[in-house]
Amino acid sequence: MTAPLSVQGIDFSYGHLQVLFGVSLHVDPCEALGLLGTNGAGKSTLLRVVAGLERPTAGTITLDGRDITGVPAEGLGAQGLVLVSGGRAVFTDMTIEENLQMQALAIRHQPALLQERRDKVLTKFPQLGRRLHQPAGRLSGGEQQQLALAKAILLDSRVLCIDELSLGLAPVVVGELMETVREINDEGVAVVIVEQSLNIAAQLCQRSIFLEKGEVRFEGRTADLLEQDDIARAVFFGAG
Ligand SMILES: Nc1ncnc2c1ncn2[C@@H]1O[C@H](COP(=O)(O)OP(=O)(O)OP(=O)(O)O)[C@@H](O)[C@H]1O
Ligand SMILES: [Mg+2]
Repeated sequence: MTAPLSVQGIDFSYGHLQVLFGVSLHVDPCEALGLLGTNGAGKSTLLRVVAGLERPTAGTITLDGRDITGVPAEGLGAQGLVLVSGGRAVFTDMTIEENLQMQALAIRHQPALLQERRDKVLTKFPQLGRRLHQPAGRLSGGEQQQLALAKAILLDSRVLCIDELSLGLAPVVVGELMETVREINDEGVAVVIVEQSLNIAAQLCQRSIFLEKGEVRFEGRTADLLEQDDIARAVFFGAG
């Protein structure tokens, strides 16, 4: 079966500074894959490359078997790949309604489809529906992340990439968001999630990749990672 997302031999540099070295990974259908690693390992950069926000200097990326290497981010949403970044994932000055419209730009010319997906979002997140005309900045941190996740539903994404959804949020809020991600994953969306916390990753992801200094150092069961003392220590001390 074709992997929803496959990344082969990716190199990437910021100017002269190379930060990704031959990174390869794949996500199986309906899988949630953890992307873990020390601070500065290149996790966010890798997701930005995958989502078309940065151009790799080598390697290929395929979405459902189609080569999407070098396709800019605007085009990828419509093709089923969505990136949600923690911290600054919504436009806080814009209303919730306006945020939803921005997220759904790729399907703006298909009103029936847009309406159907929008209804789905508002059924899943009724608290957003009740506050459509308020600025998104008035939502709690957890609600802002729900609004960010709405993009995956609006665009009916095949692959959802998430960069530190839990950033700065209380554990109980993180737990609720992870439940939402799990529901989206259960509905058949493949997920790649960057997480500082191995424990949070382990709850959602059976399998993980561990990056260090821009290279894949481990790939396997997340539970096994937790038992590998040197890796657990590197993450915990690195995150401190
Ligand atoms: N815009 C940029 N310009 C230059 N260097 C950058 C830029 N963004 C990141 N870097 C560098 O690239 C490397 C990888 O950074 P990246 O943010 O991808 O790591 P990360 O694994 O997401 O780290 P963290 O756990 O802190 O989020 C780091 O050395 C970082 O300093
Ligand atoms: Mg990062």
